[in-house]
Amino acid sequence: MRYLIAGATGQLGRALVARLGNDVVWAGGSAELDVTDADAVGRVVRGARPDVVVNASAWNDVDGAETLGAAAFAVNALGPLHLARAASDAAALVVHVSTDFVFDGAQQAPYAEHDCPRPLSVYGASKLAGEHLVIASGCPYLIVRTSALFGRGGSRAKGGSFPDRILERATALAPGEPLRVVSDQVCSPTYAPDLADAIVRLIGKGARGLYHVTNQGSCTWYAFAQEALRVARVDVPIVEARARDIASRARRPGHAILSKERFEALGLPPLRPWAEALAEYLGPAPTRH
Ligand SMILES: NC(=O)c1ccc[n+]([C@@H]2O[C@H](COP(=O)([O-])OP(=O)(O)OC[C@H]3O[C@@H](n4cnc5c(N)ncnc54)[C@H](OP(=O)(O)O)[C@@H]3O)[C@@H](O)[C@H]2O)c1
Repeated sequence: MRYLIAGATGQLGRALVARLGNDVVWAGGSAELDVTDADAVGRVVRGARPDVVVNASAWNDVDGAETLGAAAFAVNALGPLHLARAASDAAALVVHVSTDFVFDGAQQAPYAEHDCPRPLSVYGASKLAGEHLVIASGCPYLIVRTSALFGRGGSRAKGGSFPDRILERATALAPGEPLRVVSDQVCSPTYAPDLADAIVRLIGKGARGLYHVTNQGSCTWYAFAQEALRVARVDVPIVEARARDIASRARRPGHAILSKERFEALGLPPLRPWAEALAEYLGPAPTRH
């Protein structure tokens, strides 16, 4: 199969390029293809003649989106629409990636794909709009929602992956100063190479529609940070913080755990536990994806 990957310079994009190897006929970041430019998207997709158009691009600056909503919607909503329309013209499948931030996190049980979204932030609303526009395009689609993605190089918009930022912050602490990390928001950390593999498996199964995919298990950001410090053998004091005490513009869901039942019902193996993936990520360089 011939794959086109938009947003190929991001955490997931890089992992997809590594996973797919020679099946990638075109891959690029925003410098090679601005997904907000419908003409450019059409030109690149026509030129590449893909079977599958994967959108790994996103405006991922969650706090920035609160004040730059138009820019966030351009990338997260119009971008996927342009890619889906171009995919449709090329008789290709469009694969789009979305987020747990489409939910408000008030539900204690894991969210199923059919649960009603209620984004708390402009970022979440822009990602939900992207899902709706992909569906409305009429193109055959696969939408994969995921959570707390981490991978090599991290997210440029966020200044690195969460574990990398924690380790960086830990080394910059003054003696005795604790690391403060939010403990009242729960997520399912997801390793970009594991997600890339799951997406390729879903495509291989002929899956269409909306799927939730994350690594197994969930934790608070505090527990995620604690585990990163433990694995990296960095010994600094760490204390729990409440989200409302940390300055951030956007509201984030407290408990947006995604149910993977629909994914597993296809007979696909569950992704490994997040802590196992984190250990590989923080392990010796040759095993790092
Ligand atoms: N990061 C998370 O915690 C998280 C959580 C849940 C869901 N997700 C979703 O997972 C997907 C992948 O996220 P990620 O963390 O891998 O993203 P990322 O590392 O932040 O990378 C974003 C990618 O989007 C590209 N991009 C930004 N603006 C663009 C534009 N106008 N035109 C074309 N490309 C553009 C960037 O290109 P350049 O770098 O070349 O500018 C980069 O390749 C996204 O859909 C995201 O919403 C992420």
